[in-house]
Amino acid sequence: MEDLTIDNVADKVAKRPLPLFNPRDPDFIRDPYPTYHRLRRQSPLLWDPAGNYWLATSYDVCSEILRDRRFGRRYEAHIENIYRRGMMDQTAFRLMAMTMLMQEPPNHARLRGLVTEAFSARRVVLMRQRIRTLVGDLLDQLVPRGTMDVIRDFAHVLPVTVICDMLGVPAEDTRLFHETTISTRMLDPVPMNESELREANAMFEEQGAYFTNLFERRRRDPEDDLITALVQVGDGGGLTDDELLANVWLLFAAGHETTRNLIGNGLLALHRNPGQLARLQLDPSLIPSAVTELLRYDSPVQFVGRTALEDTDIAGTTIAEGQVVLCLVGAANRDPAKFGEPDLLDFGRSNNRPLSFGGGIHFCLGAQLTQIEGQEAFVGILSRLPGMRLHDADEPSWQPNFAIHGLKTLMASWDPA
Ligand code: HEM
Repeated sequence: MEDLTIDNVADKVAKRPLPLFNPRDPDFIRDPYPTYHRLRRQSPLLWDPAGNYWLATSYDVCSEILRDRRFGRRYEAHIENIYRRGMMDQTAFRLMAMTMLMQEPPNHARLRGLVTEAFSARRVVLMRQRIRTLVGDLLDQLVPRGTMDVIRDFAHVLPVTVICDMLGVPAEDTRLFHETTISTRMLDPVPMNESELREANAMFEEQGAYFTNLFERRRRDPEDDLITALVQVGDGGGLTDDELLANVWLLFAAGHETTRNLIGNGLLALHRNPGQLARLQLDPSLIPSAVTELLRYDSPVQFVGRTALEDTDIAGTTIAEGQVVLCLVGAANRDPAKFGEPDLLDFGRSNNRPLSFGGGIHFCLGAQLTQIEGQEAFVGILSRLPGMRLHDADEPSWQPNFAIHGLKTLMASWDPA
């Protein structure tokens, strides 16, 4: 084994390629947009030698890659590449690999097809009234308190309740998830450390045990809900037990983690842009465009990864088979070639099509649902708490993640009526 001396350690550090940016840097996580502008000015497609991935920084290149079937998923290879061989035995990675999110056709279409109808525009529109009632009930409890942590007490609870409702999680169990967190660090390109990995495995094991138990209950006592429907598909041979668990878990996690951040990041942006807040208060018909603009301005998902399935020429560059591209949708959404004055929050934008929900075959299944949740959440807060003050709007604390971008806490107060 090589002796470690000051000289050869320094030599190794000097030879290590410099990263184009550091996805773990708290300043980057707090405000990634100056870094994105710098990278995009260099090129719409950049090789990051330290991360061992390409970075797609422009709207057009991100959009093209997301829709190009020469790019797809090689989840196992990707995980073994950033960690080591044998990592797929870890519960967290084993189950994540079986979600539709990480699958390729034809498995992807089979898994997605089982739940598409439940998330169709027609079905979701019917849920608006239920969501409005949930927002109203939640605010009835919160308004007299005069203070809340927006993230814990409102932005988390609302989407957890909505997705649990859709899945068929009993109301008394839903409360168990009001305090639950999801390990979204496992989506980042920088590997988790031992304790983060332990936490991710524990989360899958704990939530997996809950859902497995619920599947048994629904086998015995079927209900008119999504879990019963999926359990029956499984029992008919259409889904393995692990696929059932992985995809129900995906719906649960994707159904609340991101919507929570739409509400949290959105309220923060509104309070930092009082002109747009006043505009919305004066003209509530702007709510749908405001939600789209808030999704563009500070996207809850900052990048989605793809692997080249063959050597591919794109934007004048060859991406070799097996190489990974991070499509920086957060950067695409601030691309000046696509959005005039991209760093301005402007609810009057026309033809506003951010890439926050991705694109191609994995386009977000919950896009319509989340838009309705966001609209009802903002209408509820603006109308019931018009004088709400945010305490830490200057220096809020962010979750230390890159892919999923959201706040840890956001304290607010108001004068109780
Ligand atoms: C602000 C809220 C949300 C954002 C920003 C968001 C964003 C995204 C993005 C970017 C993808 C594509 C990932 C990729 O291509 O690698 C995705 C996929 C997905 N989303 Fe969402 N999402 C949100 C809310 C929801 C909700 C409420 C649900 C409801 C269950 C949901 C369920 C899913 C599912 C199941 C997929 C995987 C689809 C597939 O692989 O075919 N999402 N989401």
